[in-house]
Amino acid sequence: MAYETLLLDRQDGVTTVTLNRPNKRNAMNPKLHEEMTAALEELRYDHATRVVVITGAGTSFCAGMDLKEYFTELKSKPDEFDRAGRLAVEWRGRTLRYYPKPTIAMINGYCFGGAFSIVEGCDLAIAAEEATFGLSEVNFKLFPGGSVSKSLANLMRPRDALWYGMLGRPFDGKKAADIGFINLAVPLANLLEETMNIARELANKDPHALRATKDGFRHSLEMSWDAAISYSFAKEAELVLQQNDAWRTEGIGDFLKGKYKPGLESHDQVQKPATDPAPVSSEQG
Ligand code: ACO
Repeated sequence: MAYETLLLDRQDGVTTVTLNRPNKRNAMNPKLHEEMTAALEELRYDHATRVVVITGAGTSFCAGMDLKEYFTELKSKPDEFDRAGRLAVEWRGRTLRYYPKPTIAMINGYCFGGAFSIVEGCDLAIAAEEATFGLSEVNFKLFPGGSVSKSLANLMRPRDALWYGMLGRPFDGKKAADIGFINLAVPLANLLEETMNIARELANKDPHALRATKDGFRHSLEMSWDAAISYSFAKEAELVLQQNDAWRTEGIGDFLKGKYKPGLESHDQVQKPATDPAPVSSEQG
């Protein structure tokens, strides 16, 4: 499917979705929300996609909501305003949070306001050290509305959320990593390579195990202890069916046969040497 505001690029099981309004610093207009909704639906069932990376074209990751096309031009069109706001909240919130495949935010530049909810919705986040983050809402007399306050509550320490939310001061990628808003900050020149290394590592792991990892964590946040334990055992039984018991027969089985050490390496990496001419090192059993 062709998109007006997005670029999709599929390589080695990793699909990169690029927000593509560089002249508007990739601000999210209503069209972009419609297209992200459609693209995530398309990739959900795309067998060539095992991992989704979200990034921005040009010097910006995403300058937040489109202050003109969303907040201003839809002011007197309540139905269209409601629809765009609903889609905006859904794809960055529920859709990304429970997405069946791993997701990575690759923050290449500006990341403001509503873009924090993209970062929070993704499972992992890697930024350029030079990137600029900011809860700029207060600077124009708003507050972190829509899904952003909840994203802050989910991911940031209270002191940091209120510091940046109330002061509106920008901070860089290194700071974002220091406060745990993202996983890792690397020089911009290395951002793509570092992100793709992580994405390919995920693409080589068992997709059912990855999904259960996400579901177990995300749903447990909302459950009582008893419900979480019950859910977890049910997920384990589901995984047995999905993988035909592979975690036990192959995963544990190959460890018990002395073939690899799961504490130090992944089973899927161990399977690779069959097609790899390089000799298997002693660490790989
Ligand atoms: N909404 C709509 N248009 C935007 C947005 C935005 N959020 N951000 C940038 N643009 C547009 C500008 O209006 C400009 O358009 P024009 O060329 O038609 O005049 C174009 O993008 C380039 O913007 P500049 O300001 O010229 O670019 P510069 O690189 O100097 O600055 C920056 C980029 C820092 C992102 C600046 O544009 C800015 O502060 N934008 C607003 C960021 C913001 O507060 N976002 C809202 C967060 S709150 C929320 O999401 C609810």
